[in-house]
Amino acid sequence: MIEIEAIRHRVETNTILHELSLNLGEGRIGIIGANGSGKSTFARLLNGLILPSAGRVRVHGHDTRAAGDVVRALVGFVFQNPDHQIVYPIVEEDVGFGLRNAGLRGDALSCAVTEALESFGLTEKRNQPAHLLSGGEKQLLALAGILALAPRVVVLDEPTALLDLRNRRKIARILADLPQQVVLVTHDLDMLDGFDRVLVFDSGRIVADDTPARAIAHYIRLMEA
Ligand SMILES: Nc1ncnc2c1ncn2[C@@H]1O[C@H](COP(=O)(O)OP(=O)(O)O)[C@@H](O)[C@H]1O
Ligand SMILES: [Mg+2]
Repeated sequence: MIEIEAIRHRVETNTILHELSLNLGEGRIGIIGANGSGKSTFARLLNGLILPSAGRVRVHGHDTRAAGDVVRALVGFVFQNPDHQIVYPIVEEDVGFGLRNAGLRGDALSCAVTEALESFGLTEKRNQPAHLLSGGEKQLLALAGILALAPRVVVLDEPTALLDLRNRRKIARILADLPQQVVLVTHDLDMLDGFDRVLVFDSGRIVADDTPARAIAHYIRLMEA
């Protein structure tokens, strides 16, 4: 459960998000909208990467301003470009990074890495340099590193923008099977099949909050206007 209470976000004199209150309950939530409509800013508010200029965001009761560390443990964030997320040179080290931060050592760490790589089909790449992975494999590695930490919510900001159709479908299937709450920013409207709710952003406002079919229709009308 994420509660967004009367937030506004400004950078200098620019209003990037106008006043906004809503709850994101459980389930899969999509976010769509034109370039520059405020989607990434909104997504980053959800785990405290950005703090709102006014109002507050609470994740399972924890305020992103007062309890940033708790919130970041609850909310995993996946960026569009996995190169911004992969920090270690070797695949297994990268997946191990977050787990080590979470306190795992020795066999427990090694088992958790094995499990994470297996569930994303990356077992064979375990000892390879991360920078030699394909774009799709890199995005899977970034996702594996986040999900290994068992966050309650996963926020993804255009995770498939750099991927081909096969890898996009792979990510879609992985997301469909996740037990966690998913918040997905995307221009890939097919990815929203089976989602519970889709928000449409326009110039820093939410102009539709509806089923995927109705929200997408609203977005298409907006783009054609
Ligand atoms: N740190 C910032 N400083 C100034 N302007 C920003 C900053 N972050 C975002 N913006 C502006 O806010 C608007 C919304 O950005 P963003 O949330 O990235 O939109 P989207 O993800 O929908 O493309 C854009 O006009 C962008 O240029
Ligand atoms: Mg964006």
